[in-house]
Formats: sequence, structure tokens, C-alpha cells
Amino acid sequence: MLILGIESSCDETSAAVVEDGRRILSNVVASQDEIHRPYGGVVPELASRQHLTQIGPVVDSALARAGIELDAIDAVAVTQGPGLIGSLLVGLSFAKSIAFARDVPLLAVDHLEGHIRAAYIESSEPIGHPALSLVVSGGHTSLFLMKEASSYELIGKTRDDAAGEAYDKVAKRLGLGYPGGPILDRLAALGDASAHSFTVSKFSDGSEDFSFSGLKSAVLRAIQKGPIERLREGEAPDERGDICDLAAAFQRTVVRTLLMRVERAAKRLRVRAIVVSGGVAANRELRVSFGELARRLEIPAIFPSLELSTDNAAMIAAAGYAKYQRKEFSDLGLEPDVELRLGEAGALRRSRRYL
Ligand code: KG4
Ligand code: ZN
Repeated sequence: MLILGIESSCDETSAAVVEDGRRILSNVVASQDEIHRPYGGVVPELASRQHLTQIGPVVDSALARAGIELDAIDAVAVTQGPGLIGSLLVGLSFAKSIAFARDVPLLAVDHLEGHIRAAYIESSEPIGHPALSLVVSGGHTSLFLMKEASSYELIGKTRDDAAGEAYDKVAKRLGLGYPGGPILDRLAALGDASAHSFTVSKFSDGSEDFSFSGLKSAVLRAIQKGPIERLREGEAPDERGDICDLAAAFQRTVVRTLLMRVERAAKRLRVRAIVVSGGVAANRELRVSFGELARRLEIPAIFPSLELSTDNAAMIAAAGYAKYQRKEFSDLGLEPDVELRLGEAGALRRSRRYL
């Protein structure tokens, strides 16, 4: 059973061939980081244009690396949302054309479900349920209770910035480049987190929601007040202790914010596993801290590998496989939905007209 996965929700054009939902035969990711770097964030119009030029070659290359022809594909899985409308449209239109031309089923996948399924592809042991699943990326910071493998109940989400967005904005202000997460992650390891004390946000209503805009503003204020300055042209960030210290203190606070919520929810709901996915799940300090939490709670913490943590199409194909088994097929009238909300009560699989 071969599924071709296609992902184009933000700034990565990706295609993958996955066998039986688990065996990755190819997973090609064309990054647009270079294009968006001068702007310190994703420029939607540039992203969709780049997807347009990349989608054909990326799909061809995924088929070639898997050693198969398009005829061998049993179904096409594609990200329906959430994401940038222009970006989503490119992948979705391409997937629909393949489904139509080859007369194979079309599977619409929620990007967040894709991130979660990434952890399931690689896990050698079956993941116990109920499980808590944290999706932490540039666009989302959401906590789901999974009573079983394909059920999602949203129990917490960010009320403002996503964790990865805070990383990217802080890095932009320091002149470090885009995406900021991997750069700050590296610098944080060289710094002293006790050099600044930032507060972990909490809500008085006891909710499991997150907030990162207060932290982001506190870090930006620390930069403004000095003596921390933006990098100068050609300056190496690792030689600047002040930037490394700031990165370490910022990162410590982000990780603590995520950890505190997850720990409380894990105890309250007596879960049997913690799954962490999305781009920020590539963060080293986060992986260590969640590993320690899991050991304390005597349950496993499951992370996708680094390649499967950030946006990729293998995770979309894997999520599509579960839908294929449940016979949840979409028709060719499928449209992108920038506001898909996985696990929210009352959230229907709405499909808006954009064209
Ligand atoms: O999941 P992803 O590839 O795209 C979205 O769906 O948003 O996540 C990208 C985000 C970016 O904000 C990036 O800065 C962040 O993940 N990121 C990291 C690390 N690697 C990527 N954040 C912290 N530490 C990292 N090592
Ligand atoms: Zn993502």
C-alpha cells in the first residue's frame, strides 16, 4: 500500500512515498529558508510562488528516490490546512490533479495531525493511550489528549504567539537570521540562563493554555535597554556572551512554560505516554527536559527524529494511511481550509470556497 504525501502549508515544499503508513521510501523537502531569510519570517506571496516552481520537481524526485512510477501509487494524501492559503492551494491542486489523472483516492490531512503521526511512524513500541500530545511549531502550540490513536481532544493552546514564532521574532531582533529556533538553540547551549530572569506565564483560570507574547516582549525590552545589541555585519554570534546568555534564559523559560503545563495535565489525566512533535520538538533542551519529566512520571516520552519534527510530507502520508484505513476519502471538490482546528469541540471539517 503506497501513499504519496504532499505538504505545502507554509514554507517547505515536500513530497514523500510511504509504504503501509510506516516505511518511508522517500521524503523530499525543498526548504525556502534562503528566500525568506532577508525578511526574518515567511512572506506568504513569495512562499506560494516558490511552491509553484518546486512542486513538480519535488514530487518527481520523491517518486524517483522511492524507485517507483506514479502508476504504483495507491492514494494521495495532502495537507488541507491549517496554513497559508496560497501555499496550501498549490499542494492541494497538485494532489487533486494526480488523484484525478491516476483515479486513486484523495486523502485530506490536518497539518497538526501530520505532526503527531510523525511520532507514530518511528516508534518501535506501540504508544500507550491515553497519551498527551504536544505540537509545538512556528504556527502552533497545542496540547491534545489522545484517548486512542486517532482521537484528538484539544485541552490547551497558545493564546497569542506560538513557541516557534517567539524564537523567530527574538532571533530577528538580534539580527541572527531565519529560522531562529535552530540558531538560538545552538547559542543557548553556550550561555548562562541565570543571567536574566524571565517569568513563566500562567493563567489564573487554571487553564492548560500557553502564552509566549509576554516573554517575547520581555526579551525584546532586555535587548532595547542594552547593553545587548544586534549583531553587526559579519559578526559571529557565538563570540558574544551577552547574546548567548539571553538565548539561554529565553530558551529556559520557553521550555519551562511547556513543561509545567504538560506535567500538570499528565498527572491530572494519568496519561501513559507523552508525545512531542513539530519544529520546536527539535530543540535539544526541550528533549532533555521532557525526557527527565517522563522518567519522573515513569512513562515514555516520544519524539520524532529531527527530520520528521519539522514540516515534511512523510508525516502527511502516514496520517493519510490511517484515513485510508477508515475509508475517509475526499472528493475532488476538496478545498484548502486555513482555519482547520484539530480536536476542537464543534469544529467541523468545513470547506470554504476560495476560488
Ligand atoms: O513544524 P515547523 O517546521 O513548521 C510549522 O508548522 O510552523 O516548525 C518551524 C518552527 C520555526 O519557528 C523554527 O524556528 C522552529 O520550528 N525550530 C526550532 C528548532 N528547530 C526548528 N525551535 C527551537 N529549537 C530548534 N532546534
Ligand atoms: Zn508544521
